Amino acid sequence: MTKVISASIPAIEEAAEVLKRGGLVAMPTETVYGLAANAFDGAAVARVFEAKGRPEINPLIVHVSSIEQAMELAVFNSRAEDVAHAFWPGPLTLVLPRRKDSKIAELAMAGLDTIALRMPAHKMALGLIKSCGFPLVAPSANKSGTLSPTTPAHVADSLGKAVDMILAAGSCEIGVESTVLDLSGDVPVILRPGSILAEEISDIIDEKVGYDTAAKAAPSSPGQLLKHYKPDTPLRLNAIDLEPGEALLAFGSDKFMGIKGGGAAKDLPEKMKRNLSAESDLNEAAANLFAMLKELDKAGAKCIAVMAIPDEGLGIAINDRLRRAAS
Ligand code: TXA
Ligand code: MG
Repeated sequence: MTKVISASIPAIEEAAEVLKRGGLVAMPTETVYGLAANAFDGAAVARVFEAKGRPEINPLIVHVSSIEQAMELAVFNSRAEDVAHAFWPGPLTLVLPRRKDSKIAELAMAGLDTIALRMPAHKMALGLIKSCGFPLVAPSANKSGTLSPTTPAHVADSLGKAVDMILAAGSCEIGVESTVLDLSGDVPVILRPGSILAEEISDIIDEKVGYDTAAKAAPSSPGQLLKHYKPDTPLRLNAIDLEPGEALLAFGSDKFMGIKGGGAAKDLPEKMKRNLSAESDLNEAAANLFAMLKELDKAGAKCIAVMAIPDEGLGIAINDRLRRAAS
């Protein structure tokens, strides 16, 4: 049985021991739970790919506890330093040219000349990385191609015995994965939208920041190419009414939403409806997104109808995840 243990200082020490021995620990972060392993240990990194069923062409994010530690792994120019100082610790992953003298396991970078780095803003994650003394690879702690976990129970459901220990610290505050920003080329590009927005980054570096996400034919981030975030029940986006037999994922008021052929969404049985945020708050919606999708996925509905979410702020990341879940 996987050990589930409440995150605390002694628990962190125990988790660090597991990681030093080459084991896998699910750790809480401010975005989603990560499946951590010693980034210097090739065998441990291989276990991460195996546990997730992750294609080896998809590189991992290396998590650090300080900017100094990150600088030992990647080449930072002044633009990268400015961004790291502005947003770390926080939900931003930087893709930078890797340092050839770093000891990161080759497998973690999937043969690329770049490395993805992040310093998470979560006391337990930072404490764990510090206590280990080495950086940690940490993809989301779920089977490849499924929804990312935002609670310890999601991790246990998805990975079962493949993870040695789960450091439990409740629900993740943000609920969608970090913004991935590629600073390895001349032009800064967002490869995966998250809660740190293009305009916030632009303000720091005084340059336009573009998007290169799944919408494009040949995205630069290998992970964006792959099937992702997929519930078993089909999704229908931008729904304005319901078909009979559909479940509802609402945003804002669903008071006036009807069911074709008669009936109202507000009278659906409890298991058939969730509201991401009755107050139309995008932060609340992001935090609820994956858990509510998982719950509705179990309702036995023929489809999950999702109301429109404004494509602004954190809504950009929410819509990105929804589009991929629907594709
Ligand atoms: O919020 C997060 O970032 C979470 C928590 C646990 O930190 N982690 C996470 O990792 O979402 P993962 O492995 O599920 O997603 C990593 C993404 C993938 O889309 C991957 O392709 C991309 O980052 N990536 C990693 N290294 C890259 C690189 N060198 N160049 C471009 N994309 C890269
Ligand atoms: Mg993932």
